[in-house]
Amino acid sequence: MGRVVVQFTCSECGATSGRWLGRCPGCSAFGTLVEELHGRESDRGGGLAAVPSRLGDVSAEATERLSTGVPELDRVLGGGLVPASLVLLGGEPGVGKSTILLTALGSVARDGRRALLVTGEESAAQVRLRAERLGGADDVRILAETELERVCATLERETPDVCVIDSVQTLHASELGSAPGTVAQVREAASRLLRVAKGSNVATILVGHVTKDGSVAGPRVLEHLVDCVLQFEGDRYNAHRILRATKNRFGSTNELGIFEMTATGLVGVPDPSTLFGRSEPGEIGAAVAVTLEGTRPLLLEIQALVSRTELAMPRRVGTGVDPKRLAMIVAVLGRHGGVSLGAADVFVNVAGGVRIDEPGADLAVALAIASASRGAPVREGLAAFGELGLTGRLRPGAQAERRLAECARLGVSLVVAPPAAVAIDRAATMLPAATLREALRLGIESLGEEADAA
Ligand SMILES: Nc1ncnc2c1ncn2[C@@H]1O[C@H](COP(=O)(O)OP(=O)(O)OP(=O)(O)O)[C@@H](O)[C@H]1O
Ligand SMILES: [Mg+2]
Repeated sequence: MGRVVVQFTCSECGATSGRWLGRCPGCSAFGTLVEELHGRESDRGGGLAAVPSRLGDVSAEATERLSTGVPELDRVLGGGLVPASLVLLGGEPGVGKSTILLTALGSVARDGRRALLVTGEESAAQVRLRAERLGGADDVRILAETELERVCATLERETPDVCVIDSVQTLHASELGSAPGTVAQVREAASRLLRVAKGSNVATILVGHVTKDGSVAGPRVLEHLVDCVLQFEGDRYNAHRILRATKNRFGSTNELGIFEMTATGLVGVPDPSTLFGRSEPGEIGAAVAVTLEGTRPLLLEIQALVSRTELAMPRRVGTGVDPKRLAMIVAVLGRHGGVSLGAADVFVNVAGGVRIDEPGADLAVALAIASASRGAPVREGLAAFGELGLTGRLRPGAQAERRLAECARLGVSLVVAPPAAVAIDRAATMLPAATLREALRLGIESLGEEADAA
């Protein structure tokens, strides 16, 4: 016999409990448990054994990926949308989720495939206005609907090639008592859409809102369910937006897409190195890092400011760099680089709002900080890469060859890197440095002559 199950679910982390608690046992947040009525437990399959098949006998047609018509989006997806896959696109309000997906749907439709937009947030007329601004998406089908059953039934009947749900938080299954956007609703919507996507061969993209800390709102379960999770980053006040995959069952998660928001929509930035990888000659506190995001080498300007502080705990503030990594670099600079920063605030910023996760950028961050601290510019036309060890020794980052090729392409004349990378020298003149101290001496010519600005 099925019965209605009452359970309490945390709206922050999705932890469940049989009774109401003031504090979530999962994430320790207060007052986040909400009552949720789960559907009737369906009668179980009766314990009948199923017959597993041999993997070699499973037929698998090589599926061709669907191009979204947005090259930067295709790249992050790993070469296009996989048919019948479920993709989650998260991002802060106003970052441009609806814009990029409408552009993609428009070009899918122009390619003669069926594209459907289910909008729960905006009216069809609003979407039409946006489409006009983006240069037309007339052949895209649009459905303004928030009822989950109707959305699923429509998908099963229309079987579009690509469907966008904007957003998954607006969908509502009436048999669950809770309001749209709650954990149970979002989870139900995603799992139903997953079944429809696989069953009717619809590549489905869900738009998800993000919480304050940047993760997709709703339970983590959503991220486990979908094939691919994309994050759209960048602030509203900066025209550049970064798209990256945090999970991808069909490709690498390191790929990066860079866009610029313009009046006619999001335009891909095909060559970000020329945009972000230049520093002004003679500028103090700036260094160029040769980073590698996925398969793509990227030159990025790193800026640093070092200022004397009265604080007992000096600040280390990084925009685009991991705070732990920054603290480590500052410590290694003090211990092994002769750049003492114990009484100074350190601020570091990465150009273009890009976030660097990769350790290969350590050396350039160290150079920028040392330059700011000593008041001496980094040598003109110089770029650097290398991972900084706690002992002050440098390790070459992954794929030194790719990085050097990018430097050569952009006409960077000098590259400071660990000696292991020198073997594959190209047009760039390599300055091998085994330790941080050597790298600082090579990178900052007048080091030591100027007084410590800090
Ligand atoms: N005429 C315009 N010129 C330039 N940029 C514009 C113009 N109109 C809108 N934008 C940009 O588009 C952004 C909104 O894009 P979009 O609606 O796709 O965001 P979203 O991520 O879907 O937001 P939400 O979460 O609210 O649905 C604005 O923040 C603004 O930067
Ligand atoms: Mg939107």
